[in-house]
Formats: sequence, structure tokens, C-alpha cells
Amino acid sequence: AHEISRVRNLSKIHIGKFSVEPWYFSPYPIEYTEDTGTIYVCEFCLSYFGSPRRFERHRSKCGLVHPPGNEIYRDENVSFFEIDGKRQRTWCRNLCLLSKAFLDHKTLYYDVDPFLFYCMVTRDDYGCHLIGYFSKEKESAEGYNVACILTLPQYQRHGYGKLLIAFSYELSKKEGKLGSPEKPLSDLGLLSYRAFWQDTVVEWLLNEQEKAGSRGGGVETTIEEIASATAMTTADVIHTLNILNMIRYYKGQHVIVLPDAVVEAHMKQKEIAKIKKHRKIIPSRLDGWKPPV
Ligand code: COA
Ligand code: NA
Repeated sequence: AHEISRVRNLSKIHIGKFSVEPWYFSPYPIEYTEDTGTIYVCEFCLSYFGSPRRFERHRSKCGLVHPPGNEIYRDENVSFFEIDGKRQRTWCRNLCLLSKAFLDHKTLYYDVDPFLFYCMVTRDDYGCHLIGYFSKEKESAEGYNVACILTLPQYQRHGYGKLLIAFSYELSKKEGKLGSPEKPLSDLGLLSYRAFWQDTVVEWLLNEQEKAGSRGGGVETTIEEIASATAMTTADVIHTLNILNMIRYYKGQHVIVLPDAVVEAHMKQKEIAKIKKHRKIIPSRLDGWKPPV
């Protein structure tokens, strides 16, 4: 655990057609990083090399074109693969090494056996290119539905983080469980989760309001109902409602309100997401998936 506080040891990571700058220390073996601080990562098998020559030699014989697991979701743009850490130890360790370069605090690299890895890719004629992933404990005593989550830097700020988060909650819904990400979250993690939670809760309330409106009534709901509809924990629902100042004290009772300003901000956000062509998860495309036992 000592080495993770060390200073950044890498200056560049070449992966696929990208060259990215690491944010934090990652424990790649020193012999790969000491000369130039540059490593070359095979975007498919995630093996790493210290020189372009070794990397090219590997590329000429690497046969992998997608993450080594089952494709459990596919739409026009992205696919998700489910990878068992125990069955694909090397690949998952390599994934953890790569992601440590963008994570300050998570320390998992070697003990990947207790985790499943949900990897999101974009497909083209050459193969399935990794965009990001989240890991998930096979059994979480705390009810966490995400351990680590990452969008590779070259794909960040395009709505993929929210897509990964949305996917993690769809899995929880299929499991009939409420879920929450492992704490502590990074600053960027918290920002992304808050954005997702706000979208989700407000969108759900608006839909309920529309249904009630067509019946000529108001919305009556509870924290528990919002939680079970979204697979968010009640703590995360309350946290979200509080941030938006949507829990008020009225005539001796706590009530949930949906202020105009919140609705307007939500509509604006939806419009922007549409313009930016942010994707959505289509739940029915997960129909064939069952929680692994
Ligand atoms: N600055 C301000 N807000 C940010 C932000 C940034 N750099 N990055 C994300 N957000 C907020 C925004 O509200 C954003 O929505 P918007 O772009 O519509 O305004 C929202 O989070 C989600 O952004 P999105 O594009 O869906 O996320 P992403 O693909 O960039 O991925 C992370 C988000 C957290 C996965 C990514 O930043 C990451 O991999 N970070 C490093 C690893 C990490 O910290 N993981 C979490 C802890 S385990
Ligand atoms: Na090197």
C-alpha cells in the first residue's frame, strides 16, 4: 500500500489511436517506465510494453478484438461485456493497472477474483474499443453496485460516465436490489453521480406527474417508492432531494415538492444532452441477462 502514494511515474500512455497523460501513479513495473516514462498498451488485451518495437511485435500477433467475456448488451453505438475477474485475471489486472493512472485512491490491482467487470466499448471494423468500465463485487455486504468506475480520458465529458452509471442501476433493477457506489467517491465521481441522480429522480417525478395529471390528480409518492423505481438507495434519494431543496415542511409534515426552477433546469439539461447526442440505456436490451451466480 506504500507505493500508491508515490509520485506520477508515467508521462504518456499510448493506447489504440490515443496518447493520454496519466493523472496519478500506477504500479507498472519500473523497467517499463524508467527510460522515457512512456508505455504502450494494447487496446484489446491491455498488455503493456516499454518500447514501440515490442508493442508492434505484439500487435502483429495479438488476436483479441473485444474484451474477453460475454457481450450482454448491444445498441447502435455501444456494447457492454461482462468479465469475471477470476476467469480473466490477467486481463482484469491489466485493466486495473491502466485505470489506476486515473484514480487517486483505489488500491485494487491484484485481487480481482471477487469482482465482475462491466466494460463498455464502441464497435467498428477493427474491433471493440474500450471506452470505460465499472467493477462490481460479486457479493457486496454493503450493497454496493459499483466498486470502481472509469471513463478513459479520451472519452470523458461525452455522457459515457452517466451511461455507465445508468447501466449499473439497470443491473440492480434486474437483481431486484437497491444499489449505491462504493465510498469514498472521487470529486469527478461524485459530480457524475449527483448529475445522474438528479436526472433520474426529477425525470421519474415528472413522469408520475404526467400520469397523475391525465387522471386529474396530484402526485403522491414516498422516498421508498422513488428508491424502488430507480434502484437508488433511500439515502441517495434523500441526498438528491435535499440538494435540490425538494423536501419541505408543510402543515406539520414533510412533503416532496417539484419546484419550477428544478423542472426548467432539468428540461434545459435534457435539451443539451439531445444536442450533444448523449446515449441512453435501453432496458429491454438487457432482457437476456441474468445475474451471474
Ligand atoms: N468538471 C465538471 N463536471 C464534470 C466533470 C468535470 N471534469 N466531469 C463530469 N462532470 C459532471 C457533469 O455534470 C457531467 O455532465 P455534463 O457533461 O452533461 O455537464 C456529469 O458529471 C457526467 O459526465 P459524463 O460525461 O457522463 O462523465 P464522464 O464520461 O466524463 O465520466 C467519470 C465521469 C467520473 C467516470 C470520469 O471523470 C472518470 O473516469 N474519472 C476518473 C476516475 C474516477 O474518479 N472515478 C470515480 C471514482 S471510483
Ligand atoms: Na518506456
